[in-house]
Amino acid sequence: MIVAVIGAGTMGSGIAQTFASCDQVTKVYLCDFATEYAEAGKHKIVAALSKRIKKGKMTEQAAGAIIGKIVTGENEIAVDADLVVEAVTEKMEIKKDIFRKMQNVIVKNPDCIFASNTSSLSITELASGLQKPIVGMHFFNPAPVMKLVEVIAGLNTPDEVVEKIKEIAVALGKTPVQVKEAPGFVVNRILIPMINEAIQVYSEGVSDIAGVDSAMKLGCNHPMGPLELGDYIGLDIVLAIMNVLYEETGDSKYRPALLLKKMVRGHHLGVKTGIGFYDYSDGNKVPVDAKAE
Ligand code: 3HC
Repeated sequence: MIVAVIGAGTMGSGIAQTFASCDQVTKVYLCDFATEYAEAGKHKIVAALSKRIKKGKMTEQAAGAIIGKIVTGENEIAVDADLVVEAVTEKMEIKKDIFRKMQNVIVKNPDCIFASNTSSLSITELASGLQKPIVGMHFFNPAPVMKLVEVIAGLNTPDEVVEKIKEIAVALGKTPVQVKEAPGFVVNRILIPMINEAIQVYSEGVSDIAGVDSAMKLGCNHPMGPLELGDYIGLDIVLAIMNVLYEETGDSKYRPALLLKKMVRGHHLGVKTGIGFYDYSDGNKVPVDAKAE
């Protein structure tokens, strides 16, 4: 199987690594709107695999085989893909435009399946105006590690496409869970408002950053605290999902925290910009309120 992953950011590169690690996949196109961005995504994969080699969890040969399957470039290179997985920014018009263009790129393979890694948007709306159906194939960060793939059918997604995606998820070593189309599906409908609430709790002064995170780690056995996880996901993505939940439902319980909006406006997006609730400069991870003291 040949797979094209469109978007070489955190999710796209993790998804490309996941596919390239699967025996049934012979080639992975990792694409972005400029080759240098696609190359940067491949570098992230090389770095993740190097860590595993250093830890003695992977041989250089196995890592080389994974990397060797990944071809980087602009979206137009993916002419012979059997599956396109779109993983670009969480904006309906950008995603639709990519699918529209990919219909003309994949000229060699009319059976190619179009999937979106959208974390919250309507699959039915994504497919509207296209000749091909769209299916939701939602991975979780870090994609090579997290076991779940949410599989989402839009109103016009054929059953056989949904079943094929579930089969592919199993081949990747994941557990597919089919969910109905709804804003945020299951995980993000529950997880992202929890992170938003943690931001609210912190901004009301109920506890400091380390306190909020420790409470949830030790009190609920979560591997990461909610503020740490918000930084890890990217606060721009957290805000985009809160906005989808709020706009689609009109329910005030999904109103984004003001501090979240301010941080996104100030480009304090978390790990990817080096600062969010924690400061990641110099390889450290220090709560920003602790630094201010
Ligand atoms: N590639 C391959 N392996 C990786 C990897 C990568 N990119 N990143 C981590 N790993 C491996 C490590 O090598 C390690 O493997 P090992 O157990 O064989 O040694 C294992 O994963 C654990 O990693 P670490 O030892 O570095 O670190 P931790 O034990 O602290 O775990 C974590 C890190 C897996 C991120 C853990 O903290 C965790 O599960 N956090 C919660 C993540 C989460 O909730 N994700 C969902 C976010 S929501 C989402 O993605 C939806 C989106 O739509 C917003």
